[in-house]
Amino acid sequence: MASPNSTQQLNSEGATSPTHSGRIVFSGLEKRFDTPDGELTVFSDLSFEIAEGSFTSIMGPSGCGKSTLMNVIAGLLQPDGGVIERGGEPVESGDFFYGYVFQEPRLLDWLTVGENIRFALRAQEVPPEDHAGRIYRNLELVGLEDEIDSYPQQLSGGMRQRVGIARALAIEPNILLMDEPFSSLDEFTAKELRQDLLEIWKETGKTIIFVTHNSKEAVFLSDTILVLDGNGELFDQVNIDVPRPRSVGDEALVIAESTLMDRFFDHLDAGAVEE
Ligand SMILES: Nc1ncnc2c1ncn2[C@@H]1O[C@H](COP(=O)(O)OP(=O)(O)OP(=O)(O)O)[C@@H](O)[C@H]1O
Ligand SMILES: [Mg+2]
Repeated sequence: MASPNSTQQLNSEGATSPTHSGRIVFSGLEKRFDTPDGELTVFSDLSFEIAEGSFTSIMGPSGCGKSTLMNVIAGLLQPDGGVIERGGEPVESGDFFYGYVFQEPRLLDWLTVGENIRFALRAQEVPPEDHAGRIYRNLELVGLEDEIDSYPQQLSGGMRQRVGIARALAIEPNILLMDEPFSSLDEFTAKELRQDLLEIWKETGKTIIFVTHNSKEAVFLSDTILVLDGNGELFDQVNIDVPRPRSVGDEALVIAESTLMDRFFDHLDAGAVEE
């Protein structure tokens, strides 16, 4: 397995982002489900590393286990085996303090934008005196400070997803888990949000783990792309060593994407993935 970039990452100004304490190393992760048809092994020996402060994307065919892996990282699902280490120390999957952004923003319709974020802050037992500041600051970060008193139905899909991102950031997690956050948006909105996400990443220094089906999106955003195959195995780990700021049409990105996809389709053609 190739090793990811060093813990010093280039940010979008080409400068280095803050130094982070260490890598998160996942070794031999295993997850099975009991189903009416018997036991389903989603992955049985998944090993990879994530540099703190880095932007890592996870790609792979539908049903290969990307969301399951995110839920294991989050501790929402218990792994059936494997070891996770952070900065060389073993941790439980639930020990990561994370913000989770889903494909759908999952806002509560009967609460305003501000109240939706406050709801998450209460759940995390953030002191009430910090609520107003965090709500405003994070809405400002996603450009929605003027919508604090709006209800979700009054917002566009892209705006609702921005609120979902602000809510995830407001709890001030070290890790942001994003499971296909832009896939239900039109391409114009998604493009704008990708750019904004990179700005937020640069400003906050978070470790971002991002699931996508979109190889252009993965190449544009990521330091590293993990590619799972349909057998729950890590087929590829690719570092995108293209300086930032990047533009979607950058030749180096186009080449990186085409190489990534060629390797994947060769792997499919070799019969490694049942479709
Ligand atoms: N709670 C569960 N119980 C039983 N099987 C499950 C459960 N959750 C997921 N699975 C199965 O595990 C496999 C991996 O599912 P997962 O949702 O992680 O895939 P995915 O890669 O995220 O797919 P997609 O790209 O469509 O979102 C699938 O076969 C799915 O049916
Ligand atoms: Mg999924």
